[in-house]
Amino acid sequence: MISFSVALDPNKGIGYKGALPWHLKDELKLFKQNTLFKNIVMGQTTFDGLPRKLEDRYITVISLDPEYRVEGVSVVNDLIAFLEEHKEDETEYIICGGASIYRQSYPYCSKAYVSFVKEEYETDTKFDAFDLNDWDIVKEEDHPDFIYRELIRKKAE
Ligand SMILES: NC(=O)c1ccc[n+]([C@@H]2O[C@H](COP(=O)([O-])OP(=O)(O)OC[C@H]3O[C@@H](n4cnc5c(N)ncnc54)[C@H](OP(=O)(O)O)[C@@H]3O)[C@@H](O)[C@H]2O)c1
Repeated sequence: MISFSVALDPNKGIGYKGALPWHLKDELKLFKQNTLFKNIVMGQTTFDGLPRKLEDRYITVISLDPEYRVEGVSVVNDLIAFLEEHKEDETEYIICGGASIYRQSYPYCSKAYVSFVKEEYETDTKFDAFDLNDWDIVKEEDHPDFIYRELIRKKAE
């Protein structure tokens, strides 16, 4: 199964100058809680921009560079082949960005963990493909700076 985890502002903004536009401690805590000891998948740009290593997660980095290697991390050069291979797996693979990886993975995702950041931020990276109408909300939590929702993709009619 493929899912994604994202935090986005009211304009679907997700990034600014290679980093998150905000620093929301509770949101990072939720991200950790949702991904601990799971398979997470992220683009090279996002991985290289992490402020520190994410412990206790099985990380796959998507890169077009066939020479790209990082110790303790799997590297995949073909995102679509990876998604096709794992879309029916019982094991969950959580897509964790950035923009280009979210966009290409979106049609494959059947579940989502989304933090809707309440304030508008200056952003240069968006997750335009995301449309809340594609999803049923199965869980919702109101936090001071964001609304957290778990989503399951609506069945085709
Ligand atoms: N708000 C959030 O929840 C959240 C989460 C994650 C990231 N972000 C933000 O998103 C921004 C980064 O996003 P981004 O779009 O610039 O980068 P990205 O999606 O993290 O990484 C793109 C990388 O993947 C490679 N790639 C793209 N498509 C591929 C494919 N089909 N097969 C193999 N490799 C492929 C690209 O290669 P090329 O460069 O050669 O095209 C590039 O190295 C940052 O600001 C980050 O903080 C926000």
